[in-house]
Amino acid sequence: MVELLEKIDKATSSEELEKVRIEILGKKGILAKEFAKLKNLPPNQKREVAKELNEIKQQCLEKIERKKEEIKEKELYQRMEKEKIDISLISHTLTSGGYHPVIETMDRILDYFQKLNFAIEEGGLVEDDFHNFEALNLPKHHPARDMQDTFYFQDGYLLRTHTSPVQIRTMKKQTPPIRMVAPGTVFRRDFDLTHTPMFHQIEGLVVEEAGKVSFANLKAVLEDFLRYMFGDVEVRFRPSFFPFTEPSAEVDISCLFCGGEGCRVCSHTGWLEVLGCGMVDSNVFKAVGYENVSGYAFGLGVERFAMLIHRVPDLRSLFEADLRLLEQFRNL
Ligand code: PHE
Repeated sequence: MVELLEKIDKATSSEELEKVRIEILGKKGILAKEFAKLKNLPPNQKREVAKELNEIKQQCLEKIERKKEEIKEKELYQRMEKEKIDISLISHTLTSGGYHPVIETMDRILDYFQKLNFAIEEGGLVEDDFHNFEALNLPKHHPARDMQDTFYFQDGYLLRTHTSPVQIRTMKKQTPPIRMVAPGTVFRRDFDLTHTPMFHQIEGLVVEEAGKVSFANLKAVLEDFLRYMFGDVEVRFRPSFFPFTEPSAEVDISCLFCGGEGCRVCSHTGWLEVLGCGMVDSNVFKAVGYENVSGYAFGLGVERFAMLIHRVPDLRSLFEADLRLLEQFRNL
């Protein structure tokens, strides 16, 4: 009896236990053989021994049941040990996305103007002739329309060639004073090292009561803005022409690559052109029904800023969605 229980106790795995169970309780097992011997006993002993054997059988069954639980628990524990996941191990690093350099540059520019209390305005990409040209002092057949190669739809609508129509729409919607910047996509039929058919501009417009805003204000704001964007650079205003501003200027900064010495990037001039600006032409105010106001406006290409800040040599590479380029900007 004790021997049998010990046998059970020695089993260390489910398989061993099963073997022991068959050995003891199986059809040809130890107990079966003992039971078989009963028939040879005299009747008075038979009962006694049968009772005893049944008790032994019962105890063995119980012991096996307990042992089974014990082994199951042990085996589960062993499996957990073996299969456990070490969460301290370094796995594949998840790569995170990042801002596209053009968007990041745009955000930086807008940040600056928002601090100066400029509101952000947006317009549609499809414009009509009036808002894109006519109201901006570009009557039909005006030669200055050639400055911007336009994509036209059949019904006279067009893809806006600049963000300036947002000036017109904002002035029509609001009353002065106005202080706004309009970021957005614009389109021109142009494609080379420094031009893509789609690019981004930011337009600025300030309108005040006549006499309250001058070219000096425009100059101060833009000089400070350009130093905010490019650091310690020289800023130069060069007389220019835009139909919607008078007087007009193009603004240059000293070349970021050679510090003004002259190099390939600045075509050996020492200067890089970065934006256009001027005092709003009176014809523009007339087109939106404004009187006794003065104001200034400016427009810039966001890609150009991004290229200069990040020294990207080919504008087109910004739109090729090449991960090798974009990964360099992941931490912006
Ligand atoms: N709209 C002009 C362009 O696309 C830029 C500009 C805006 C110039 C406002 C002056 C004032 O070239």
